Amino acid sequence: MKVISFANQKGGCGKSTIVINLALNFALQKKRVILFDTDPQKSSYETLDIREDKLFKVVAVYSDIYQTLEKYEPYYDYAMIDTPPHDNEIVTVSVVCSDLVIIPVQDSPLDIRSTKVTVDLIRKAKTLNPDLKCYFLLSRIQPQTVLAKELAEILTNLYETDILNTQISNRVSYKYSLIYGKSVTEMFNSDAAATEINDLSNEILNILKS
Ligand SMILES: Nc1ncnc2c1ncn2[C@@H]1O[C@H](COP(=O)(O)OP(=O)(O)O)[C@@H](O)[C@H]1O
Ligand SMILES: [Mg+2]
Repeated sequence: MKVISFANQKGGCGKSTIVINLALNFALQKKRVILFDTDPQKSSYETLDIREDKLFKVVAVYSDIYQTLEKYEPYYDYAMIDTPPHDNEIVTVSVVCSDLVIIPVQDSPLDIRSTKVTVDLIRKAKTLNPDLKCYFLLSRIQPQTVLAKELAEILTNLYETDILNTQISNRVSYKYSLIYGKSVTEMFNSDAAATEINDLSNEILNILKS
């Protein structure tokens, strides 16, 4: 089972929005995916609970994430972990137990600076798990601006961490679809947001293969 965590101690950078869309995208492709919501605010858990079809399993878990991952390991190929916007044991253990950590970052210098805490956490985690892969994901960016390009360069230079090619733009469709517990690919299949989520899925699957 490949474990993908979404972490950034800065709240509001789009972790839950991205993990919900991505997990739904995997499930709609009939992949065996499970989502762990470790944030007591339960955004992912409650949003997906709106769905009557309960397309895939979502578990709210606030402790013993290592044991929980072990328990579900035989039944799933992908586990996604949504983490809270603060530093605690469950974030540390989730990161250490991951194959891949995605750090969503908004397109603002203030957000880039406050990401340092998360980057430091991942550096420490790599001493325990040297195979851990980590990428930034520019999130909630203003489409068609040069800002994202310049900030991407600052991010990679500052933290020496790779950045995903896919970027997630700030779009109303990301908010609207979650009213119904749906992904943008389900609700707005021809929308640019659906393309972003499909591209993100493919990019992540390729990273996990390598
Ligand atoms: N790509 C996006 N486009 C528009 N709104 C977004 C996008 N991503 C997140 N949001 C909105 O921003 C707020 C914070 O997003 P959320 O996913 O809860 O972030 P986090 O889990 O990192 O705290 C929510 O109101 C959400 O609807
Ligand atoms: Mg969240």
